[in-house]
Amino acid sequence: MALLAVDLCQLVIPRIIKWAVDGLRNHTIDGSQLRNYAALIMLLALAVAVLRFLWRYLILGFSRLLEQDIRDALFHHLLSLDSAFYQRRGPGQLIALATNDLTSVQMACGMGLIAAIDALLMSFAAISCMAYIDPRLTLLAVLPFPLLAVTTRFLASRLHRHFKRVQEQFSLITEEARGAINNIRLLKIYTREAAQCAQFDIIGRSYIKHSLKVAKIQGILFPASGFIANISLLIIVFFGGRMVISGAISIGGFVAFISYLFMLTWPMMALGWVSNLFQRGLTSLARIQEVMDERPVLRPVIAAGRKIGQPDIISFHHLTFTYPGQNRPRLKDITLDIRPGLLGIVGRTGSGKSTLCALLARLYPVERGQFFINKLDVNDIDLNSCRRLLSFVPQSAVLFSTTIAGNIAFGAPETTREDIEAAAEAAAIHDEIMAFPHGYETEIGERGVRLSGGQQQRIALARALLLRAPILLIDDALAAVDAEAEDRIMAHILAYAEENMVIMVTNRLSPLRRARQIAVLDNGRLTALGRHRELIAASEIYREIYAHQESGNNNTNNTENTGLQNSTAHTSNLTRQSYAA
Ligand SMILES: Nc1ncnc2c1ncn2[C@@H]1O[C@H](COP(=O)(O)OP(=O)(O)O)[C@@H](O)[C@H]1O
Ligand SMILES: [Mg+2]
Repeated sequence: MALLAVDLCQLVIPRIIKWAVDGLRNHTIDGSQLRNYAALIMLLALAVAVLRFLWRYLILGFSRLLEQDIRDALFHHLLSLDSAFYQRRGPGQLIALATNDLTSVQMACGMGLIAAIDALLMSFAAISCMAYIDPRLTLLAVLPFPLLAVTTRFLASRLHRHFKRVQEQFSLITEEARGAINNIRLLKIYTREAAQCAQFDIIGRSYIKHSLKVAKIQGILFPASGFIANISLLIIVFFGGRMVISGAISIGGFVAFISYLFMLTWPMMALGWVSNLFQRGLTSLARIQEVMDERPVLRPVIAAGRKIGQPDIISFHHLTFTYPGQNRPRLKDITLDIRPGLLGIVGRTGSGKSTLCALLARLYPVERGQFFINKLDVNDIDLNSCRRLLSFVPQSAVLFSTTIAGNIAFGAPETTREDIEAAAEAAAIHDEIMAFPHGYETEIGERGVRLSGGQQQRIALARALLLRAPILLIDDALAAVDAEAEDRIMAHILAYAEENMVIMVTNRLSPLRRARQIAVLDNGRLTALGRHRELIAASEIYREIYAHQESGNNNTNNTENTGLQNSTAHTSNLTRQSYAA
């Protein structure tokens, strides 16, 4: 409604001008009447402005609300998807979906809709008014306009293509700078500064190249459309002028006609621009929909999903596992029973230890009949109740940029300070935390204190210990912890293992001396199972790891590794993982 009113007011203005001009020419109006006309125009212009504001506000507001709804739905959905999905879709892609694609949907529903309605109504109304003055002249005048719409559309789509490149290049620049600054020490040690600068310069140049293209198209757009509009003007002046001379139309009509023509220029450009906007919006919507149609492979709650209590036995029965989308199995024919007590898992890098941990944490789907908890197939157990049985310390410590207490209490935010301190004590980190300026309230990460690799690992351990889950799973997460702290931690873990299951992946054998069982993995297969002494006698791989470690001990290679590891751990876990793999 507001929209109609706006266009109506807008269209009346040239009519008034017509009256005024015709009146002036025929000397039928005086100064006060002219003032009245002026006042009327002023009033109408004001009404146009207010109404235009109103309906724009309504549509833009609506498009923002819509954007918010889609964003929330997308985020909610993303969190429900599992590792199999994230294995296929990188973070960059998903971020683009939540930013660029969402923006183009919002643009189509907001500015696109506004411009489309505005342009259609305006051009329809303007053309009708022109036709009212003189139909033939109208036909001649609008002849070049389809050309204008097509040109704008063409330029707009090119503009968008280059603009997208510019954005991509810009994120490359940011990424490059971030990488260099984060890894400044590595850069200096390998004396790569000059090479890095050169690399940065190349990316910067390509950014400028694309920006210049954008500038060029932006530069062409308005002159080109202005030129086409002027062709129309030419037609009108030529033919319309002759009609005025011959008296077919009045001078006022002629002037009004030209005003209508100028009103048409923008809608015609808008049509080209809008069709491009809509097309982009639709493609983006399709991309978002594609992700929304994804279903988690692991169903969080199976209808008949059983809840599970204290686990007494976990069994793998000829377990074979292939990562989604790959064809080579990474675990082969593993048969193993796990009972309360400490189970060690050792093996060379790449032998499948972390993969086994991921399966225990139910991060990937497993076939039926291969993995049981308390004799129940895991596929029949409610996923969340299954995960709550377990606290998992992954191979690389992931810490958030918040306080130390916040990091430890991540899995149980309601917990008391005593419990947090007890967990830190058990992870042999309490004294070091107390030595920080703000104790447990010390901020860590980008804007807080930097922690050594060993400190990070022990905080991650404390986070898991706090949960007191019946299954504690530690994936080689103490590699940077020094021997003395490790002894203290092991004392706690052994006590804990008397009533619970503790599964510990490590390549340091000393903590496993008192393990109930040690499993040796090699190339995805379980090659030996037994206690330390038995394995020394029976397993060649175990002996090899043992020998390697003994020599390492003598070189004191085993102590805490601060330095570089420390600087990378917060920011790029990806890098660390790819190193580990
Ligand atoms: N998310 C993954 N997707 C595909 N392959 C993987 C993934 N994680 C590990 N792998 C592969 O599985 C094998 C076993 O890796 P992993 O379980 O991490 O070994 P470990 O922890 O014993 O060093 C390696 O060959 C590795 O490349
Ligand atoms: Mg591993």
